[in-house]
Amino acid sequence: MEREIITTKVGIVGGGPAGLMLSHLLSREGVDNVVIDNREHDVIANTHRAGILEAGSVRMLTDTGVDGRILDEGYEHSGIYLRFNGENHHIDFKKLVGQTVWLYAQNEVFVDLAAARRRDGGDVRFGVTDAEVLDHDTDTPKINFTDADGVAKQIQCEVVVGSDGSRSRTRDLIPGRVKHTMRYPFAWFGILCNAPFSSDELIYCHSDKGFALISQRSETVQRMYFQCSPDENVEDWSDERIWDHLDDIVTGPDGYQLKRGEIFDKVVLQFRSFVQEPMQHGNLFLAGDAAHTVPPTGAKGLNLAFGDVALLAPALVKWAKTGAREDLDTYGERAAKRIWKSQNFSYWMTQMLHTPAEDNPFLLKRQLGELEAVTSSEDSMKYLAESYTGWPYDLPELMEA
Ligand code: DHB
Repeated sequence: MEREIITTKVGIVGGGPAGLMLSHLLSREGVDNVVIDNREHDVIANTHRAGILEAGSVRMLTDTGVDGRILDEGYEHSGIYLRFNGENHHIDFKKLVGQTVWLYAQNEVFVDLAAARRRDGGDVRFGVTDAEVLDHDTDTPKINFTDADGVAKQIQCEVVVGSDGSRSRTRDLIPGRVKHTMRYPFAWFGILCNAPFSSDELIYCHSDKGFALISQRSETVQRMYFQCSPDENVEDWSDERIWDHLDDIVTGPDGYQLKRGEIFDKVVLQFRSFVQEPMQHGNLFLAGDAAHTVPPTGAKGLNLAFGDVALLAPALVKWAKTGAREDLDTYGERAAKRIWKSQNFSYWMTQMLHTPAEDNPFLLKRQLGELEAVTSSEDSMKYLAESYTGWPYDLPELMEA
């Protein structure tokens, strides 16, 4: 079959936040790239995701000229609450480590990035089919695909980046790969509802009836989650049953009550947790969920994807401009440090806050001991604050507006 040829420097498989941020940063430095994704733009835009961005992730959006919408429509939070024994304990990030986080739905980050690529003339093709990476262990890798109009095409490039998410197929192309996997016996039941704020900042709530997270989206829409079994059935949960259960989890001597409202979205979110190593083979590099996923408790998913891009983008720019490959060939090793720190933090938050699968009161008491230890020590709270707000990115010249 005759394929129409597209020639570029970097072919990017996957147009989620990682792929689009990479494309944006490369284009700013004049490095030609093409992005493909098998999903439609509106499908990605309407898939609900987590809602917390580290300050460094926000700066990647605002200081590199993606968009400042997050500053108008997002909410800056200077901390979170850990709630246990029915009482809130504030972790004041700003006071502890001088950093904040932003509440802003991650699907809106995608919307902003896609709009910025359109505005800047980026080549991003959604809704493609039959994508296939070829010759990635040579200097002339190719990506075959059929575009949304049914036309068969081939990208001829020098480097391929697989940023195709947790169901990545590009990661299968790495020979000798090891997928370090952690299975958690939990899932989250997530809701979106029309209701006013139930709290000024997020509440991570421990209880003997399971974990709950009281999060938010806006003055009129709230996001909440509670711990459930991985095989929980959404149909079994009426609005009333959900609110009663959430109230049971958060109830306490301080009389705290959630503000109820109509629930318009219910979903069971499975935990996924793995790290694939290596993240590179020849001229194929992985970034974001394609290479690693974390349990949701530390709000790290998208932030970690941006962490990869903060290393990969400058390495690709240097290689494209000078031919020097050293930063590229050490990318995976350097990225692994942040990835495993994030796995550790997400694991720690998860095991500290979720009701263990094993019914043993010792385990619950031990968790309360841990929560007490964390919230009564400024040094322990600092570890949480530093990890949650995120370790600094080193994004040299790319950050200059
Ligand atoms: C949200 C999700 C998370 O996993 C988290 O840790 C914090 C917030 C959210 O969807 O708002």
